[in-house]
Amino acid sequence: MTLLRFHIEHPVADAPSEVTVERAMLIGGESLQQAAFSAGLKIGGACGGLGICTTCRVKILSGDAGRPTREEKEMYAKDLLPVAYRLACQTVPQSDVVAMIDT
Ligand code: FES
Repeated sequence: MTLLRFHIEHPVADAPSEVTVERAMLIGGESLQQAAFSAGLKIGGACGGLGICTTCRVKILSGDAGRPTREEKEMYAKDLLPVAYRLACQTVPQSDVVAMIDT
């Protein structure tokens, strides 16, 4: 099991500022975006997970989020994604992870 804790940077009124999700490690991996959607969290997804819109960006606060994908490297190279951030649709946790969602 993998514990994913989402820290919500700007929660709306009466919403929690942190949500912990326990997920089974899946073969092939489940992305942070899929886990967030499953938990009912509001996270961007304008391109449908193709890795080209950056609306799903999250900041990894701790844990192993795996290596950046080709799509993320392209966004870093174009200065469209700060280096400290990952695309939730492309990120497959390799351990328990704490990620910040800046709504
Ligand atoms: S949903 Fe568009 S980059 Fe992740």
